[in-house]
Amino acid sequence: MNKGRISIVEVGPRDGLQNEKAIVPVDVKKHFIDLLVQSGEQRIEVTSFVRPGVIPQLADASELMAALGTDRQWFSALVPNRRGMEKALEAGLREVAVFTAASETFTKRNINASIAESLERFEEVFALAQSNNVRVRAYVSTVIECPYEGKIEPTRVLEVSEALLQMGAYEISLGETIGVAVPDEVSRLLEILLRKLPPERFAGHFHDTSGTALANVGCALQFGLRTFDSSAGGLGGCPYAPGAAGNLATEDLVYFLERSGWQTGVSLDKIVGASAYIYEKIGRGILSRVHASIVARRARSEKKTVENTASHPASN
Ligand code: HMG
Ligand code: MG
Repeated sequence: MNKGRISIVEVGPRDGLQNEKAIVPVDVKKHFIDLLVQSGEQRIEVTSFVRPGVIPQLADASELMAALGTDRQWFSALVPNRRGMEKALEAGLREVAVFTAASETFTKRNINASIAESLERFEEVFALAQSNNVRVRAYVSTVIECPYEGKIEPTRVLEVSEALLQMGAYEISLGETIGVAVPDEVSRLLEILLRKLPPERFAGHFHDTSGTALANVGCALQFGLRTFDSSAGGLGGCPYAPGAAGNLATEDLVYFLERSGWQTGVSLDKIVGASAYIYEKIGRGILSRVHASIVARRARSEKKTVENTASHPASN
């Protein structure tokens, strides 16, 4: 059964690593990103050009871009303002992502602006993007719930999404930032958004704090969304829930989609390799269940091969 193509946006190097304690050296990030490309990932958010003191894990954005070489077609980076956009252009990026939220308090704490001020700042980013032929994706965070303001009304998400699309964003990534949502809430949000806007304009960005991210992907698929963000191995965490899982793991997403009949173009085996590499470098265990089951299956089949070789030694 072939249901069609799903586009995966790999956010491990940015959303994942920005939430890890470990500061990962540029050469390790580069190798991780190379492995992601080799696994078939075609949209990778590699870093962000934000205030280095705020996110020290990604303070090496320009060096990383230089290390990645000249092939930029797969890469994107977050930019919060004109300063970030200028750096992204210097780095040769062909795509950037701006980010704001549906909650005033979250926006203030995250980017030191009101929602209206953030949109005003983005005017300059969009103008530079247009004159340099750069694509702009846009995130709206806290689409279901805000850690400071609680539940968010879908109409607030709609207003911000409409403004960003009007400014020139090609896609809105709906940030379920704190990973608390269940499908009923995602349905309610999408019902309201899709009365006004087509599903092709939206991507699902589900954090997996409560283990509900895949259920939310299943729900969003039924509403016609065909783009989802994820991070290799579920890299990252949640600053509002220390110790919790990060983004939906790319392994979990690919397994779920491919087994349901969707095409992702991503090799599950190779993603497992990329995750294993980066987790070994940051020194912590992987929470993705699909990753764990693939590793366990591989170990079992390797053990069987060793046992078979021992009981039937090759004669010479
Ligand atoms: P601010 O302090 O209001 O900025 O920060 P400012 O304009 O007043 O400038 C203060 C200083 O910062 C100046 O330097 C600027 O040059 C410098 P000084 O003169 O003091 O030496 N500065 C910069 N430096 C480097 N790059 C820049 C830049 N801009 C100013 N781009 C600002 C405002 C937005 C910059 C800051 O709050 C910031 O960088 N915030 C980023 C926060 C962040 O990265 N959060 C995580 C990403 S969002 C997310 O994860 C959610 C998402 O995954 C979706 C979801 O899950 O919901 C996307
Ligand atoms: Mg996020």
